Amino acid sequence: MKGSWLGPRKPFELASSDVSGLRKTLSWPHLVGLGVGAIVGTGIYTLTGVGADRAGPAVIVAFAVAGIVCACAALAYAEMATMMPTSGGAYTYTYSVLGEKLAWIVGWSLILEYSLACSTVAVGWSGYLVGWLQAAGVDLPTAVLAGPYAGGVINLPAVFVALAIAGMLIAGTRESATFNIILVAIKLAALTAFVLLALPAFDPANMTPFSPYGFGSEVIEGKTRGVMAAAAIVFFAFYGFDAVATSAEEAKRPGRDLTIGILGSMLICTLIYMFVAISAIGAVSYLDLGRSVEPLAFVLRALGHPYAAWMIGLAALIALPSVILVMMYGQSRIFFVMARDGLLPQFLSRVSARSGAPTTITAVTGLFVALVAGFFRLDEIAELANAGTLVAFIAVAVCMMELRRRAPDLPRVFRCPQPYLIGTLASLGCLYLLISLPTHTLTRFAMWNIAGLAFYIVYSGRRSLLAAKSEG
Ligand code: ALA
Repeated sequence: MKGSWLGPRKPFELASSDVSGLRKTLSWPHLVGLGVGAIVGTGIYTLTGVGADRAGPAVIVAFAVAGIVCACAALAYAEMATMMPTSGGAYTYTYSVLGEKLAWIVGWSLILEYSLACSTVAVGWSGYLVGWLQAAGVDLPTAVLAGPYAGGVINLPAVFVALAIAGMLIAGTRESATFNIILVAIKLAALTAFVLLALPAFDPANMTPFSPYGFGSEVIEGKTRGVMAAAAIVFFAFYGFDAVATSAEEAKRPGRDLTIGILGSMLICTLIYMFVAISAIGAVSYLDLGRSVEPLAFVLRALGHPYAAWMIGLAALIALPSVILVMMYGQSRIFFVMARDGLLPQFLSRVSARSGAPTTITAVTGLFVALVAGFFRLDEIAELANAGTLVAFIAVAVCMMELRRRAPDLPRVFRCPQPYLIGTLASLGCLYLLISLPTHTLTRFAMWNIAGLAFYIVYSGRRSLLAAKSEG
């Protein structure tokens, strides 16, 4: 077993073998559906407004920057996922290519990605619920609709949706591929209707000043602003395709199906996002857009389409929870694999005999997600989720390049074109996005990692099954 000062490396055969025994039922249309289902969520439905607040009309450029970086990362992901079609995604690739210590950091970052993405979507869902109820004449007290950051006590709808989804997962619910396709259709139909209604109202006057806060990322009027600052947050809108990679073991023909699944879903979403962002920014002032917690519904109301606004709110309410479901499921899978490797306590991977679901870990995750969603601001949670994701994406790009160098002749089902160029663009692009995040986010991220390293030193490093095997 090979290893280095970065810890033991999981043998490639182990990392790439199918150990789950799951049935192979998914082909590429399911995987594209799964990808689009996990990608389209609060990012486009809500963070478009936050992005406009950070960058002005140049939020369109921010979407393009985040999309290009994410597309490069997706190409690297596609190569790695088709070589190692097994659970664990970025964590498993890093374990096999770079070693256990970096794999631990990546796994620890993925926890942040998946659970905080759930919290973000829960808060975004709550924003649409409140707007939707208000439009129907129902006014609830602020105390139960927002955390202390906005003069409330707790964001109860966000807590509710997080716990409800955790409950469904504990009961053994897994979104069926068919049900997912229906939800994807609802989400995409709503976004298409939005573009059809908002784009004709495009007013060039709303485009000036195009980039009021410049290209970079600096604190202006108390907030981290600029195109890169916006890109660092709207990056949230693009990920989720990695959830496709976690279904690799269930793909009928992993090579072809995963490639089309990952790249196809990224392509569809980037195209739609650009249209939605241009339509939203062109229809109203970026200042107004930036203040709304349900920006797409707000735009439609401002354009005099209250019924369509109500419908888009309804579409968000029905379809956004599916993103939480996929992400929370992904979270339980990551915990599961890390516990199977001995890096997390085994009891976390215990599976209920009745429902077949990892009950304990789902309950713990659900509570954590609900607490964060109940008390923290949407943009702050999204930024921290992005930090975790960016680290995981950097790791995948580095793994892809390192494996090309170390084992150029290993059979590759999907070969990333120009691997070193794309890999460098992906890793440096993600790094640039990471350092464009606000200082307080980076500080929190550093604290999370210090806690992770401490846990590794006192627990995981000593319990690792692979380390025990390589010593024994
Ligand atoms: N990309 C997903 C969303 O925007 C996480 O909700």
